Amino acid sequence: MSVAIITGSAGLIGSEAVRFFSKLGMDVIGIDNDMRKFFFGEEASTTWNRRRLQAEISNYEHYDIDIREYSKIEGLFKKFGKSISLIIHTAAQPSHDWAARDPFSDFSVNANGTLNLLQATRNYCPEAVFIFTSTNKVYGDLPNYLPLIELEKRWEIEPSHKYQGGISEDMSIDQSKHSLFGASKVAADVLVQEYGRYFGIKTVSFRGGCLTGPNHSGTQLHGFLAYLMKCAATGKHYTVFGYKGKQVRDNIHSSDLIAAFYEFYQNPGVAAVYNIGGGRESNCSMLEAIDICQSITGREMNYSYEDSNRKGDHIWYISNLSKFKSDYPNWSIKYNVTQILQEIYDYNIEKWTKEDSSLLAGVS
Ligand SMILES: NC(=O)c1ccc[n+]([C@@H]2O[C@H](COP(=O)([O-])OP(=O)(O)OC[C@H]3O[C@@H](n4cnc5c(N)ncnc54)[C@H](O)[C@@H]3O)[C@@H](O)[C@H]2O)c1
Repeated sequence: MSVAIITGSAGLIGSEAVRFFSKLGMDVIGIDNDMRKFFFGEEASTTWNRRRLQAEISNYEHYDIDIREYSKIEGLFKKFGKSISLIIHTAAQPSHDWAARDPFSDFSVNANGTLNLLQATRNYCPEAVFIFTSTNKVYGDLPNYLPLIELEKRWEIEPSHKYQGGISEDMSIDQSKHSLFGASKVAADVLVQEYGRYFGIKTVSFRGGCLTGPNHSGTQLHGFLAYLMKCAATGKHYTVFGYKGKQVRDNIHSSDLIAAFYEFYQNPGVAAVYNIGGGRESNCSMLEAIDICQSITGREMNYSYEDSNRKGDHIWYISNLSKFKSDYPNWSIKYNVTQILQEIYDYNIEKWTKEDSSLLAGVS
């Protein structure tokens, strides 16, 4: 028996990982307490996704545990012991805006929760592969000091700059504004590296750009493309904050990310760090994303612009994928932004229609 422990198993990345690794025949243990509902309200609850996993996947077992409770985490790791060959840790408070409201919850989930999982791995299954979903916010707002040029619909980096192909892992994570969320994720990212370097555990920090996909419970504070498309499809109002709407994000489909996890699992390093996102192949500015949404839904988006940007928000962030591609040459990006948005739309339109049929009058 080979066991995979997946935290945040009802969330976007966690649930995709459950489906993928259970199909490989692994017994999958999911940990998720629907804390996303506590962070962002009922609209963002992931209970619907947890129920689907439990109904559809026979080799899936769900544990409603808070990763901050070490005794419960320890109990689980003790129970499965050395049969655990993979830990995918995605449970988190994921929003930089939210973190400032309740720094204790943010830090204890993101930093202490990660420490709990690392320590349990060290004690009960030190040979297992430990995959952590870090974030590009570990670089703080340093990307905003790159030489950027303004184009009609987006910011771009100067073509001669060394990060023209995207920002690589050599960018400093020090001395910049991170938001409290970025700071708690830095703590976790460095802990993950340290359990690799110091104890020899096969750890990796994947520093994600925007992670997205049809299973995202998108909400205003988290889940950019999913929430944007939800607003575009339902006529709900959307606010664009700052940078003239030209801020650029790279977006990776959850299945492309899980494929990267699988490559690492098959051939793991120790204390590895990779930037991961859509890279040059899958990125958009806010204005470009709105254009794509409008052409998919066939209706004008109901949005407004507010001049003040969100604190610590990146103006231009594209991940450089060269390091990962060079270590794992079988891996490539399969989805671009248009394909991702189309899939989010196709997959959710019925659910959104049911949720709010009155708002949908007029959608073709
Ligand atoms: N989505 C993005 O754009 C993005 C970008 C970069 C990094 N990340 C990171 O990737 C990871 C996964 O992101 P996602 O978009 O799938 O998030 P998500 O919010 O969809 O899923 C996270 C899940 O973790 C659960 N959870 C939260 N706190 C918990 C706790 N204390 N105990 C148990 N479960 C808890 C939530 O209920 C939720 O179901 C996170 O660590 C996030 O910081 C996400």
